[in-house]
Amino acid sequence: MRVALLGTAAGGGFPQWNCWCPSCRVARQNPQAARPRRQSSAAISIDGQRWFLLNASPDVRDQLAQLFRATPATIRHVPIEGVLLTDAELDHTLGVVLLREARHLPIFSTAAVCAMLERDSRILPVTRAFCDVPVKELLLDTRQPLLYRDGSPSGLSVEAFAVPAGPPRFARSDDVGHTVGMALVDENSGRMCAFVPACGRLTASLLERFAQADVLLFDGTFWTDDELIALGVGDRTARQMDHLPISGPEGSLEQLAALPCRHRIYTHINNTNPMLVEYSPECAMVRRAGLTIGVDGLEINV
Ligand code: MLT
Ligand code: MN
Ligand code: ZN
Repeated sequence: MRVALLGTAAGGGFPQWNCWCPSCRVARQNPQAARPRRQSSAAISIDGQRWFLLNASPDVRDQLAQLFRATPATIRHVPIEGVLLTDAELDHTLGVVLLREARHLPIFSTAAVCAMLERDSRILPVTRAFCDVPVKELLLDTRQPLLYRDGSPSGLSVEAFAVPAGPPRFARSDDVGHTVGMALVDENSGRMCAFVPACGRLTASLLERFAQADVLLFDGTFWTDDELIALGVGDRTARQMDHLPISGPEGSLEQLAALPCRHRIYTHINNTNPMLVEYSPECAMVRRAGLTIGVDGLEINV
């Protein structure tokens, strides 16, 4: 199973277009020391040719160009067999509209996420005007095979599980399953990748699940709970925004450091997060704990 990180920044990317916070300044002045990043997305494949996209970011066009560089045998070629969506947030779903040229684009999501895309953001009805977009419903805590567009088995399966979070700001309801993590399993090797780009809290059952993962991609949005407030650019804490901060007691670093997974990688990193600067003490702390700060283009074979 191959896991490719296509984007490791939170919504807005890094540097964010309108931001001159300390880390965005470094990213502009010295990109070697704070590498620019696209908005959070990943892809998974068995054969390195046919991929399933994990969330579809507004940067999807550039991300696919990076993922698929070969010359195909046909004039039109879609290297994406389906798009798995963990929630209906704009940074995770606007890319669906941008893939409308695909003609046939299967979406895998829970009923709650699908309802928000139909009714609240209207991303599905808008995309359907251009493209056939079948939705395969993911049931919570149920392992389901991922099929290629032609109906054949991919050798991958997925299990969606609810994570503590609130629905997007534009959602009209708060249905169970509006925000999930996904366990992606290579059915041949049994290897598992857990993809959890947004998570407000770590529970015992989540930690138990993550302990089984060979690769864990986890919410690295904020370093501290009051990060946006301290910079004067926001009025809500990380926890109020449903992103468990990395640092501090009961932060994610302390809890994930104890897990046995081979690869523990932060993704969906907000531009204000000081660990994005490679010479920062925060970056050193993450490395010392044995975790990786995700960077675009990182590919893992497990
Ligand atoms: C989040 O990660 O909390 C959301 O993507 C916020 C946003 O859309 O700006
Ligand atoms: Mn986000
Ligand atoms: Zn910034």
